[in-house]
Amino acid sequence: DTHSGDSGGRAQPPSPTAGTCPFHMAKPGAMMCRATPWCHGPALTPTSAGTTWMQEILTLLFSLGDARPAKTIPNWERAPWLEQIYSREALQNTGSPRLLTTHLPARVLGNPPSCGGDTVSLQVIYVARNPKDVAVSFYHFHHLAKFLPDPSSFDAFLTQFLEGTVHYGSWFDHVKGWLGQRHLLDILYVTYEELHQDLRGTAQRLSSFLGCPLAPGTLAALEQHCSFSAMRDNAMANYSLIPAEIMDHSQGRFMRKGVVGDWRSHFSPEQNALFNRRYQEEMGDTELPSQWPM
Ligand code: A3P
Repeated sequence: DTHSGDSGGRAQPPSPTAGTCPFHMAKPGAMMCRATPWCHGPALTPTSAGTTWMQEILTLLFSLGDARPAKTIPNWERAPWLEQIYSREALQNTGSPRLLTTHLPARVLGNPPSCGGDTVSLQVIYVARNPKDVAVSFYHFHHLAKFLPDPSSFDAFLTQFLEGTVHYGSWFDHVKGWLGQRHLLDILYVTYEELHQDLRGTAQRLSSFLGCPLAPGTLAALEQHCSFSAMRDNAMANYSLIPAEIMDHSQGRFMRKGVVGDWRSHFSPEQNALFNRRYQEEMGDTELPSQWPM
């Protein structure tokens, strides 16, 4: 028995059918991967951060630890962005099962959020990160991303971040919006910090949630291929394939530091006090799945 755990009383994934793996559909002619039997979905990954890491983890889970899809297919093909799928027909054309990624706020996808009208099998994994580290990471990302405005200073950027006048809007609204879906959707909340603390345990939790079996060796392969250093060196995950007019790689790496608490080397005591005040105002009575070290 290679199954990691129970599926929480949910319907079991469909029985094995050949040729339904999203990796095959994403890239005809790509190597056969062993994921086929239990791929089901769509599984949607909305994130306020930790996106690329979760795409890689789900790729390894879906391939039963076979690293070839992660090493040969860019992550935007393995887990396409909902933002870049422009019509319901295009979404349906991606075929089912599918693994989708989005930064969109929950309200944009309806109430309850749905994909292409298909609410029945939608499973959602929401990834969040300490907003102080999100602000730092996002600030550096603005230097790379040519489609985002140049941030004048960290202080100015932090003000915009707290006001929600950055790309995708307010972090607070994003997290509260997706937390508000917990009674309406089949949703699992994961934090970036949990991935750091216990990648293996979190992967097991993901596999139970998705009803996706764990083959012997999957977790070891996942730990190896989803490590920061492996992903930093994987062109299919580190965005180095994106042309310089979209991402200016001379300004730094997308896979920058990958640590918890980098905000401590960026925030002044005043910025920290301001952030804590705003956080308390916005999130004070919110039931978070995990408490960030603020
Ligand atoms: P830093 O800028 O702090 O280094 P997203 O994918 O949502 O845009 O988030 C990007 C952040 O996730 C970056 O954070 C990146 O380094 C980090 N990240 C990506 N893969 C990671 C991994 N395997 N381990 C740790 N951090 C990772």
